[in-house]
Amino acid sequence: MAKAKDTVSRTLMVALVLSIVFSVVVSTAAVMLRPAQIQNQNLDIKTNILSAAGMLEPGMSVEDIEESFAGFDVRLVDLETGEFVEPSTVGVEDPMKYDMYKAASDPDMSTNIPSSEDKAGIKRRPDVAKIYVLEEGGEMVRVVLPIHGYGLWSTLYGFVSLEGDLNTIEGLGFYAHAETPGLGGEVDNPRWKQQWVGKELYGEDKTEPQIQLVKGGVSGDARDKEHKVDALSGATLTSRGVEQLVNYWMGDRGFATFLQKLREGEV
Ligand SMILES: Cc1cc2nc3c(=O)[nH]c(=O)nc-3n(C[C@H](O)[C@H](O)[C@H](O)COP(=O)(O)O)c2cc1C
Repeated sequence: MAKAKDTVSRTLMVALVLSIVFSVVVSTAAVMLRPAQIQNQNLDIKTNILSAAGMLEPGMSVEDIEESFAGFDVRLVDLETGEFVEPSTVGVEDPMKYDMYKAASDPDMSTNIPSSEDKAGIKRRPDVAKIYVLEEGGEMVRVVLPIHGYGLWSTLYGFVSLEGDLNTIEGLGFYAHAETPGLGGEVDNPRWKQQWVGKELYGEDKTEPQIQLVKGGVSGDARDKEHKVDALSGATLTSRGVEQLVNYWMGDRGFATFLQKLREGEV
């Protein structure tokens, strides 16, 4: 039998007090952990940039990663003009703080992509992109560019690293996606990623990207092998998404104008 103090109002009061106490605990933890989360996200992005650039070595500590990444110059590029812009044009002081994916959802900072041109399936493209340039002895030796686009189930976010000729791929990798492990998720397989190393983006004209993912694998005597990578087996749709997104971002709606200007020493 319920004791006299087990009244409905007491039960409700206890529930209310407990929910207030726990919501304060949870919100405080969320606020306190935010800086650590941002730091970890930044570290993850830096790790992925180094990985795409082939600069990530096994067993690197956080300090090693920070030190290697510090060699990169973080720059902002206006994709329409292909020119560098100052961070203040996107309202930040430190270019690292610019979030191009957030900008893609702001109508003032992005452009709608007509569906006929939307090869990457991203609907809107930020007007300004964040890129990473590595110079050695006054010479540009590599440029790491962000890429993203739709696979089968998800948007894949990654980087492609180019050699100083701005045509040869040094590495490519995705740091976020939700494709199926073992199928589309094989984009993370180091053996598949290794195939990208040394491939060439452009043909003679240096403007139209030529990347193809070949179902069944690239045969030894295939023509234009320098542009071809094996499609992922059992994941034709993810593979098509990857092919399309790489070609979109390296095309004239993406980085082609910038790369051409950089190649010709105009920026
Ligand atoms: C549960 C499930 C998950 C799948 N995940 C993927 C995927 O991540 N990427 C993909 O391209 N295809 C995925 N597929 C397969 C596609 O539906 C489609 O059959 C496949 O892309 C065709 O590729 P293939 O011609 O190489 O077999 C999945 C299928 C099933 C049933």
